[in-house]
Amino acid sequence: MIPWEVVGRARIPGSADELVLSRRGTEFSIKISGYVSELMNSRVHGSEDALAEFACSLVLDRKRPEVLVGGLGMGFTLAAALKALPHDGVAHVAELVPEVIEWNRGPLSMCAGYPLTDERVRLHQGDVAALLRASTAAYDAVMLDVDNGPEAMTHPDNHWLYSAQGLQAAMRALKPMGVLAVWSAEGDDRFTARLRKAGFDVELRTARDRPGKGARHTIWLARN
Ligand SMILES: C[S@@+](CC[C@H](N)C(=O)[O-])C[C@H]1O[C@@H](n2cnc3c(N)ncnc32)[C@H](O)[C@@H]1O
Repeated sequence: MIPWEVVGRARIPGSADELVLSRRGTEFSIKISGYVSELMNSRVHGSEDALAEFACSLVLDRKRPEVLVGGLGMGFTLAAALKALPHDGVAHVAELVPEVIEWNRGPLSMCAGYPLTDERVRLHQGDVAALLRASTAAYDAVMLDVDNGPEAMTHPDNHWLYSAQGLQAAMRALKPMGVLAVWSAEGDDRFTARLRKAGFDVELRTARDRPGKGARHTIWLARN
């Protein structure tokens, strides 16, 4: 068995924690310091792909669809969005940790097939919340996979994204009939209720780690 080797560490802006990138042969893992479970593993991305596949399938009939992915991670959700989008679509991606972007240009680049080199990508280094706060009717779909579910894990401020105020901002940032898609390791009835209270029409789907096997994760598809 090849041992894990730490190949990168990155301080999370505004937090005392860091992201730790490890490698074992061709497999990569990202953990948050202090957590035993992984934030991301390069071998397990069926549900990260599904987040984009589900969300993009609902907006593909639009003219020049424009979507926002937060965050970049290992690039799987971004790559799946690019696969689904037409040649004139646009995929914005927001990533809080600058080193994650460097890793995606370096050792992680091949994991999801070099999505950052696609001309349709608009990369924003920073908090996805800042883009949501600043946007009005800008996106056909917003896909959030920044924590392990609708509770802050990577950064304490991420709580806002799942709050009533955050959901109102997401609603405003979406074009009419737009989709807010949120990834979670598990279901969360209170979050479903908050989405409905914010005025979204909510559908819950599940997606597995790998085709036909592995854990089932939850994806909320919330339409305004
Ligand atoms: C679970 S990973 C995303 C995995 C991604 N869906 C993929 O397919 O590889 C979470 C990512 O979101 C980033 N992140 C966390 N909070 C963020 C925020 N508020 N704004 C932008 N990116 C954020 C983390 O640094 C990390 O890279």
